[in-house]
Order: sequence, then structure tokens, then C-alpha cells
Amino acid sequence: MKAKKITRHVKWMGAVDWDRQLFDALIPLPDGTSYNAYLVSGSEKIVLLDTVDPNKLDVLMEQLEDVPELDYIVSHHAEQDHSGSIPMVLDKYPEAIVLASDKNKTMLMDLLHLPEEKIQVVKDGEKLSLGDLTMEFIYTPWVHWPETMSTYLEEEKILFSCDFFGSHLATSELYAHDESVVYEAAKRYYAEIMMPFRKPIEKNMQRLAPYQIDIIAPSHGPVYDHPKMILDAYNEWVSAPPKNEVVLAYISMHESTKIMAEYLLTQLADQGVKVQLFNLETADIGKFAMSLVDAGTIVIGTPTVLGGPHPNAAYAALLTSALKPKNLFAAVIGSNGWGGGAVAVDKLSALMPNFKDKFLKPAIARGLPDDVEMAELDRLANEIVQKHKEAGLK
Ligand code: FEO
Repeated sequence: MKAKKITRHVKWMGAVDWDRQLFDALIPLPDGTSYNAYLVSGSEKIVLLDTVDPNKLDVLMEQLEDVPELDYIVSHHAEQDHSGSIPMVLDKYPEAIVLASDKNKTMLMDLLHLPEEKIQVVKDGEKLSLGDLTMEFIYTPWVHWPETMSTYLEEEKILFSCDFFGSHLATSELYAHDESVVYEAAKRYYAEIMMPFRKPIEKNMQRLAPYQIDIIAPSHGPVYDHPKMILDAYNEWVSAPPKNEVVLAYISMHESTKIMAEYLLTQLADQGVKVQLFNLETADIGKFAMSLVDAGTIVIGTPTVLGGPHPNAAYAALLTSALKPKNLFAAVIGSNGWGGGAVAVDKLSALMPNFKDKFLKPAIARGLPDDVEMAELDRLANEIVQKHKEAGLK
């Protein structure tokens, strides 16, 4: 793909990766992704903001054929998909200097073996004149690494936010005009990558609040020329209270846990609680993560197997805990067959240490649930409804 003009001084560069299916060997990418770099041309200095994943270096190099000189490369974030091609771009422009935050300087030296003398540290709030344009570097740490920063182009009112506000979405469109599609991709991205850092993100949102931002240009997914959509979305995902929703993720070996999960769903839905059900045998783990963004309660259903919870249920518990969602309550349901149900509950709960005080009494059956054990699900449903009411969840 060729470079695309955003304004008279700013071009999108980079590559769309339609085929990538997994990020960091962890995050599913059902819609591919893009690695966005930006070229800012002032009257005196020319700056490249970020690069691309090295597997797309050829695309960036072709776009740079029309760029005879480069004064600076801004590295917002040391991760490979944005900084991995800096050494090769420096080979083409040996006079260019890399601008980075103080933490990023060390990381670029550690991760990419960039020579120290090629990196110039910029401070939080520091400005750089490009002649007729001014860049301000704003530290926005923990989106999602500690060294991350953004750049604000004063005259154009563009925020180059790197991973912050991004979306893993391969598209031929420069702008996020198909808002429902981009919203979905951005929420998935937030859930999988940003959610564990809600508190620092809240601070970063406050830090950015005084700036007039006409365009947000992230390093993944389309550019926001109407940034209100993504700013409003982040404010809600990060700061709004959870909703009257339950995420019910289960796996069943011989149908008993499935019967329990579906019964609990009905009891909750009949009382006005929205339930998102995931069968962990086949569930899209990214959708599961997205559902955690808003839910008031997470319920995990598991049989007892191999002396504990089913490994898929254990993974869901581990992931839930690691993503640090806003969920206020948690519970475990399931059937233990001939194994010990308490063992599965204890081991599953131990995988979610930050939910320690949020667990409601579990509902466990021995084999196919009988009437008494199904009544425990009624009890759990009523408890969730009551807890959500007391917490004012809507
Ligand atoms: Fe898109 Fe954290 O790299």
C-alpha cells in the first residue's frame, strides 16, 4: 500500500497485515492488524514516527523511497511491531537520531541493540521545533509498557498515540468511518491489551484532557478524524461502573456442568440480568475478554478432572485475573463426578487472587445435578441479582 496524505504536513505510512492471526503468541487477531508509521514534514526537519514490524519492512522501505532525508525517528514504544525496523531505517538514514523516553532508551538498547549515541532522550512535555511545526512529547506510560509516550503535533492538533486507542483491524480505509466495526475491534484490543492498566490509562486520559485533539493517529488500525467516538469509549471502558451483566464461561465433559450453566443463565435472564455464555471448548477468547469489560460478575463452570478444574477453565480463570476487569463478583459452578468438587473450586479460586474477596458461595453437583443441587443455582442466581441491585448496577 502507498503512503496516504492526512494533512499537508502529515502522511500515513506503514503496512496492513491481513494475514496475521496471533499477536505476541497470545492474542487472537480475527481481523488482522496494521502497523502505522507517520511521516511529518516541517519546513526544517522531517520526522518518522515509529516504524513497522520487521516482517513488513519492505512495504515501509518502498514508501520511504521518496524521502531522501530523515532528521528524526520517534520511538513511542520499544515493542517489535513499532520499533523492530528502526535499525534498518537507520541504515538507510545514518544521520537520523532516534527520539525516545528515558525508559525507552534503555529498552531500545536492550531489545534492539541500538547504539546509545543514536538515541536522544526527550522529557515529558518537551517540545521540538520542525520549523513551521511543533511536536510535544507526552509521556503516557503503561499503554501497555512502562516506556510508552505519545506525540502531539500542535499546529495540526494531531495526537500520535501509538498503541493507545489502537485497534487490531486490517482495512484499506485510512479513517475510522465505519464506527461500529472499529468500535468492536478497538474494544477487543482494549480488553486484551489495555484493560490490566485501567488506572494508569485513567491518569493518561486526564493528562490528555487539556489538549484540543482533532485527529488521533494510533499505531494499529484506522485513524480517528472524529476522535470523540474512541475517547468516549475509553472513558466508559476505563471509568464507568460495571453493568448488570454476567459472563458465564463453562466447559463440560459429560453435560452436567453444561446443564448447570444453561439453567443458571435462564434464572439470571428471567430476572433481567444480561448473560454472555461461553463454552470454553470452542470460545473465542478475545470475545470472552471483551465481555469482561462491562460485566458485574464472572461465573466459571468446570468439572473436576485431573485433580482440579478442567485446564480450559483454569486458563479462563488465569486470564480473567490477569486482565484485571472491573467485575465486582465471581463464582464457580460445576459437577465433580467422582472427583472432589471442593478441590476444583479451591484451585480455580487460587488462580484468581485479585478476586479473593469477590467470590460468592459456589454451586457444585455430584454427577448429574439433582433437585437439591439445581436449587443451589437458584440460590446463586438470586444472590447475584441481589448483589447487582445493592451495587446499583444497570
Ligand atoms: Fe503494538 Fe505494544 O505494540
